[in-house]
Amino acid sequence: MSLTTIILAAGKSTRMLSLKSKLLFKISGEHIIEHVCRAVASINSKNIVCVLGNSPQQLKDFIKQNEIQSVDQKNPCGTANAVKIAISSMPVNKNNKILILCGDVPFISPVTLKRMVSKLDNSDLCLGTYIQENPAGYGRIIRDNKKIVEIIEEKDASSKIKKVNEINTGIICINEGVLRKFIGKIKNNNKQKEYYLTDIIKLLSDNNYKISSYTIKNGLETMGINSKKDLVDLERKLLIKKANDLLNKGVLIRDVMRTDIKGDLKVQKDVEIDINCIFEDKVSIGSNTTIGHNCYLNRCKIGKNVHIKPNTIIFGATIGDNCIVGPYARIRPGTILKNDAQVGNFVEVKNSIIGNRTKINHLSYIGDAELGADINVGAGCITCNYDGEKKYKTIIESNSFIGSGTRLVAPVKVGKGSYIAAGSTVTKDTPGGGSLTIARSKQISIPKWKSKATKGKK
Ligand code: UD1
Ligand code: MG
Repeated sequence: MSLTTIILAAGKSTRMLSLKSKLLFKISGEHIIEHVCRAVASINSKNIVCVLGNSPQQLKDFIKQNEIQSVDQKNPCGTANAVKIAISSMPVNKNNKILILCGDVPFISPVTLKRMVSKLDNSDLCLGTYIQENPAGYGRIIRDNKKIVEIIEEKDASSKIKKVNEINTGIICINEGVLRKFIGKIKNNNKQKEYYLTDIIKLLSDNNYKISSYTIKNGLETMGINSKKDLVDLERKLLIKKANDLLNKGVLIRDVMRTDIKGDLKVQKDVEIDINCIFEDKVSIGSNTTIGHNCYLNRCKIGKNVHIKPNTIIFGATIGDNCIVGPYARIRPGTILKNDAQVGNFVEVKNSIIGNRTKINHLSYIGDAELGADINVGAGCITCNYDGEKKYKTIIESNSFIGSGTRLVAPVKVGKGSYIAAGSTVTKDTPGGGSLTIARSKQISIPKWKSKATKGKK
């Protein structure tokens, strides 16, 4: 049996109090809609149709880039109307299964979706439910002798119904034939004057169709985002869970409340993470490495026995074993630090290779450069890599010593074993081999300068 997934994404996001679609807010490092699309991509759904409304171009572009078919719900007047528009764009296939997801429920897992789809083999509709401690805002599941008979939306619920804590997660799997038969029968006689997809439950129940349910255990999977408060509450819950999971696996996370693992963090043995660190996208950390407080690590690979000191930013880089980085270092994309290298405070390194045991410890900018092994770069050195139009490369060969305050005007090559005098502006290649290059004006002292300069003045 084939499967089509409909993602509902045309709502007006009113409760978000924002000009942009709620589905484009980021949670745990990705847009809300990206999480949903990723879950759908990993189940065997042949077709995916996304219902868009007067959605912002950015959302339309995202759907297009992901090669997802979309339909337009020009007047978003309810989830049933959205589904009706989606199925009217599809060829009729009464043997098809249809999975309906809300674009604003980001952490639904592929395992849950697969289980719900398979439950449809023995029923006409399978509803994803959850037992929620504080069910405010959600549709409530009404059962009669265990059988689901109706869903009542929060806004239409009496105070008695509001106490029901089994909620509709918004995830519905239904046989296409049944959906086509009943979708047009849904009315909008409710407080919001909206066509509620959830009203299909009562219609099926009244007509003796078989409704099954799947109770989702993990509350994070079922939380929908309607307001900014929902967004931050869900994100915080998820981040605490991720940090706790790693702590339980032996990573010494000093404070799970103050560690944000937004992407995929892979960690080996005896890693220690101090407070206020943020990890985004794919990050891997080798054994016995310490990350100081306030660090930001995004798409990077950190070796073993590394010490990342506080307030360091590493983005798109590889750090070899035994390196020391920071405090206050900024390592930018395309950088590779080979083993035992050191990059210290207020040093920015971009798109550069730093050789084994090479040290750049204070206040420098190294960009588009290749540094060999055993080099010492003094305080305040700058590779001048940009002439206003193009970027050029600086090469510093091994065993060189770059005096403090040196400017290397690229393209330029510092030969193996060069010494550069402090304060030099190097514009030509240096010969290396133990030579000293001095490229600054000769120091002179003008005698009696003060008395000449002040001559004639009182
Ligand atoms: C919906 C369910 C509710 C459930 C909750 C779970 C209905 C009527 N209610 O409520 O039972 O507990 O989700 O999170 O379905 N949308 C459209 N077109 C529209 C209206 C909405 O595409 O005309 C989309 C929205 O963009 C959103 C999804 O449908 O992604 C759900 O709509 P929303 O307004 O968030 O419904 P809830 O009040 O959360
Ligand atoms: Mg919602």
